[in-house]
Amino acid sequence: MHMRKKKWARPELAACPWVIDPPEHYRGRWLSLFANSAPFHLELGCGKGVATAAMIADNPFVNYLAIDISPDVLGDARRNIAAACGEDVRNALLARANIEQLSGILAPEDGVSRIYIRFCNPWPRRGHKKRRLTHPRQLVQYRRLLPVGGEIWFKTDDDELFRDSKRYFEVSGFEPVWITEDLHASGFSPNYVSEHELRFAAAGIPIKAGIWRKTDAVIDEDFTRWELPGDRPAPVGGTP
Ligand SMILES: C[S@@+](CC[C@H](N)C(=O)[O-])C[C@H]1O[C@@H](n2cnc3c(N)ncnc32)[C@H](O)[C@@H]1O
Repeated sequence: MHMRKKKWARPELAACPWVIDPPEHYRGRWLSLFANSAPFHLELGCGKGVATAAMIADNPFVNYLAIDISPDVLGDARRNIAAACGEDVRNALLARANIEQLSGILAPEDGVSRIYIRFCNPWPRRGHKKRRLTHPRQLVQYRRLLPVGGEIWFKTDDDELFRDSKRYFEVSGFEPVWITEDLHASGFSPNYVSEHELRFAAAGIPIKAGIWRKTDAVIDEDFTRWELPGDRPAPVGGTP
């Protein structure tokens, strides 16, 4: 969906002390920006930050960094967090960045122990799947940041993305800890409901979700050598 440009977003982001620009500057030093050394959790593609704001408000003893590529949605996320936690929120930072270049922003010594991915774009078309935030191209980056046992919490409305992602996690050295094909019927709590989740749930679409943990397996980081779902070339001349 095309997002209308918000004139107020960039100036508000620039004036906000907890919006970090440029984020590359703090690679390896993110902990110095927080008041304490509480666990450090990352949200990728936070959008308007509806779930983010509720999660930050509920968990004052966790430090958060939420990232999105769009300044327009980050403007909304900033306002939502400020409304939920106050303008002087101590445990949240926002940054505008392309997650495909996450390794330039965060280092293993930053101590990220959990990553949230909520309703990332499904990129269904062949040749575009590499852009999925759960594709091994991205998972190998996240894996380098996390300790063994570090977690990725992922949820989506999209069946194909969820099915493929289970395989992506497996080949990238993550094991499932908990998986559900219907989050809202599962009793999982607290579930911080995002803007997209609200929309899909209202349309009656079951929300698929899971928690994956980094294993100590040694993996080949060259994902181009892996056989991944949907990445094989289309058969020439129809059905093989
Ligand atoms: C479908 S929206 C979901 C937003 C929110 N998590 C939710 O559940 O409502 C996906 C978000 O990911 C962001 N995004 C997509 N690709 C990205 C990338 N490579 N780097 C940073 N953000 C990205 C988009 O700007 C968008 O805000």
